[in-house]
Formats: sequence, C-alpha cells, structure tokens
Amino acid sequence: MDRPELLVIGPYPDAEMRALAQDYRLHLLWEAADRPAYLKQVGAAVRGIATRGDLGADAALMDACSKLEIIACFGVGVDAIDLEHARARGIRVTNTPDVLTDDVADMGLALLLATAREIPRGDAYVRTGKWGSGQMELTTRFSGKRLGIVGLGRIGRAVATRAAGFGVQIAYTDPVRASDVPYMWHPDAVSLADAVDFLIVCAAGGRGTAQLIDAAVLKALGPDGILVNIARGSVVDEAALISALAAGGIAGAGLDVFAHEPSINPVFLDIPNVVLQPHHASGTRETRRAMGQLVRDNLSAQFAGKPLLTPVV
Ligand code: 8YV
Repeated sequence: MDRPELLVIGPYPDAEMRALAQDYRLHLLWEAADRPAYLKQVGAAVRGIATRGDLGADAALMDACSKLEIIACFGVGVDAIDLEHARARGIRVTNTPDVLTDDVADMGLALLLATAREIPRGDAYVRTGKWGSGQMELTTRFSGKRLGIVGLGRIGRAVATRAAGFGVQIAYTDPVRASDVPYMWHPDAVSLADAVDFLIVCAAGGRGTAQLIDAAVLKALGPDGILVNIARGSVVDEAALISALAAGGIAGAGLDVFAHEPSINPVFLDIPNVVLQPHHASGTRETRRAMGQLVRDNLSAQFAGKPLLTPVV
C-alpha cells in the first residue's frame, strides 16, 4: 500500500525526519519557495500534517488539505493550531505532553539560577580576563526565597518540585485552585507578583493568557524581582517588560520564548540583565527523540484506525 502523504511544516531533528520518511511520503513546506503554489500542488493528497508547537497550523493551511485527517504537533503547546477549525472539520489533533515536562522545568530552574546568579556575566568576566584584576559584582541569592508560578499545570508542578529542593517558598496563580498541593494560591498574577521574589511563567499560550504579565504585574514584582518565561512569548507584554528592565522596574529576566520568535526585539540584546534562550527548553537529544516517537506513534495509530495516544481534539 502507498505510504500516507504527510505535510511537514518545519524541520524536526534529522533522525526524526529520517524516521518519518520511512513510513510517509513527506512534503516539506518550509522548503517551498511559493507556499500557496506548493500547497495547491500537494494539498489534495495530504492526510496528515506534522507541525511544531511554535509553528502550529491555521485554518487556511487545513483547508488547503481536503483529505486531512490528523495534525500531529511536536510540542505540548497547541495554541498556534486553530483547534476550533480542526474540531469543525473533524480533524484530529495530537501533542507531546509529559515527555518534555522534566526538561522544560529544568530550563525554568536553569534560567532562574542563571539570571539571579548572573551566570552569563560571570562567564564573560572570566573569558575577558577580568578575573584577578578586580572583583565581580555580587549577585542575588535564589535558595530560600519566594517563587511565584503562573500556571500550575504539568510543567508548573515540575518547577515547584524542583524549587522545593532549594528551600524556596512556593505560591502560584491558576484559574483552577489545586486541592492537592501545599502551595499558596493567588487569585491573579498581580497579587502573586506582589508576594514573591521570582515569577516564572508556565501557563499555556493562547487567547486566555495573552499579555497576562503586563506593566501592573511587573510593577508588583518590583525592582528586586526576576521574571522567567518558559511558556509562550504571547503571555508577556514585551513592551512593558523591556520598559521595566530598562528602567530598573524589575531586576532581571530569563527568557526562552518571545512574542515574534525567532525574530526577537533587538533591544533585548543590549539589556545586560536578561538571559536569553532560543526557545530551547525541550531541546535535549533525549526529549526531542521522545517527542518525535510520540508524533510518529500518534500518526501511525490514526492511519491504523487505532485510538490516538495523546489526543487534544
Ligand atoms: C518545542 C514547545 O520547542 O512543547 C512546546 O509547546 O514549544 C516546545 O517543546 C517546540 O514545539 C519545537 O519546536
């Protein structure tokens, strides 16, 4: 039987691309010079879309593929996929939860520590030969402080577990007040920011959380406060963040995600008290392999008429 045709929106790691190519006829959308023309040419045969959390799939893309059955997302966040449209058309959507939770939470802690302890500045201090001719400025302690978690889902909870090992006092805000955790709940992000030293954003992206971290939240976090974002750029009002960082309204930020990534506001590059990452919280060999496997397992379940492993829609 012919291999099902799969439209791949952006590249996966090489090994995952090779594995996909064994079972599917791949159409690589990112290589097309003229996207609409390419979609016209291949769309009618496409039964599956393989996308990524950062790339998603909009209604127009789905409608370019009349036989589309499934969108498999290499990532847990599906905010860039038009789920309503998928639902209306009976297109299934899957994601890759759980397998990336530990790595994303690890990155959250890494950014909290790197920003508070100014690891990049220390690294530059050594590399530029300043060590020995002066003393590096003192940094901020992380252990024993107060951490506020915005969004207590799988990743937020994994951040909390790790932070507890640092003797950190944990509070959170989430629309759902959890009954199974000992952490203090706050009704909104302003009240949470006001009560903590560090704020980490772990909430899902999308309309419900757009610009949740705004000027008022940053003001409440205050001049000694540090913000870390491992969720989506859309959750933070970037203009307000840049103003707060530039004016000393907060002490620093550790950012893995940005509003218009992969292009980032160049002002960030000149602000010394930020630690920047290229949306790489799940970017370990181990986790990306597990994510790729889960994408393939969901696709093969769909094409074999079996239940999906991690359905969203
Ligand atoms: C990935 C992500 O970096 O899981 C998500 O939602 O954004 C990340 O794990 C992304 O999907 C791969 O590009």
